[in-house]
Amino acid sequence: MRKAVLALIQRRHFSHGETYDRHTARLFGGLHQAVAADVAAAAPAGGVVLDAGCGSGRLAVLIARRRPDLQVRGIDLEPGMVEVAARRAERENLAGRVQFSAADLASLPLPDDSADVIVSTASLHHWADVSAVIASLGRVLRPGGELWIYDFRIVPAGRVRSAARSLDSQVDRTLVRTGRFPAALFQRLAVHPPRSAYPEAPAHLTGAR
Ligand SMILES: C[S@@+](CC[C@H](N)C(=O)[O-])C[C@H]1O[C@@H](n2cnc3c(N)ncnc32)[C@H](O)[C@@H]1O
Repeated sequence: MRKAVLALIQRRHFSHGETYDRHTARLFGGLHQAVAADVAAAAPAGGVVLDAGCGSGRLAVLIARRRPDLQVRGIDLEPGMVEVAARRAERENLAGRVQFSAADLASLPLPDDSADVIVSTASLHHWADVSAVIASLGRVLRPGGELWIYDFRIVPAGRVRSAARSLDSQVDRTLVRTGRFPAALFQRLAVHPPRSAYPEAPAHLTGAR
């Protein structure tokens, strides 16, 4: 039942990237600014950032603007969102460093250990299979990297916590205030995988012999 409702919402609200994009600045502009600041402070020099469920690409572009040394990847289920996001990166002359593709976060088309920081905003409450997404993000995160999942404060964290537990990981929850709004509307779930849970990157990706 939950999956059917999510599939319906997904089709109705996210297949038209332009329509979504028109409303998103007002709703998520403050959150995007806060997340871009978090990423700018934490990402290692020359690092790779993944925006998981990137929508129309506003956050990915903000991150790239703040940190010209970073490579930013955005992945979203909806090709219509990815098209709008790619046009945004081109308009801002960022297409060389900011790339978008359409895929399910539950089966990411990215190598193991390839992202230094993974962020996701307002996407968690749409994930049909939270455990599969967390496992997939954990695989792509390099050991010692940051995995931060932001969503509305009222979104239950239980599915993330139980997915993290089964990977022997921990979740820290903090509330996030944005703009001049007096109360925190959002939360951040930071997932900390133990180093040992994921193998070292294969030699063909690291260049090691
Ligand atoms: C409310 S929008 C948020 C978009 C963007 N993060 C933002 O802050 O504007 C939720 C997004 O999550 C995407 N999404 C939901 N489930 C997904 C999945 N399994 N894999 C990839 N993207 C997904 C949707 O297509 C949609 O673009």
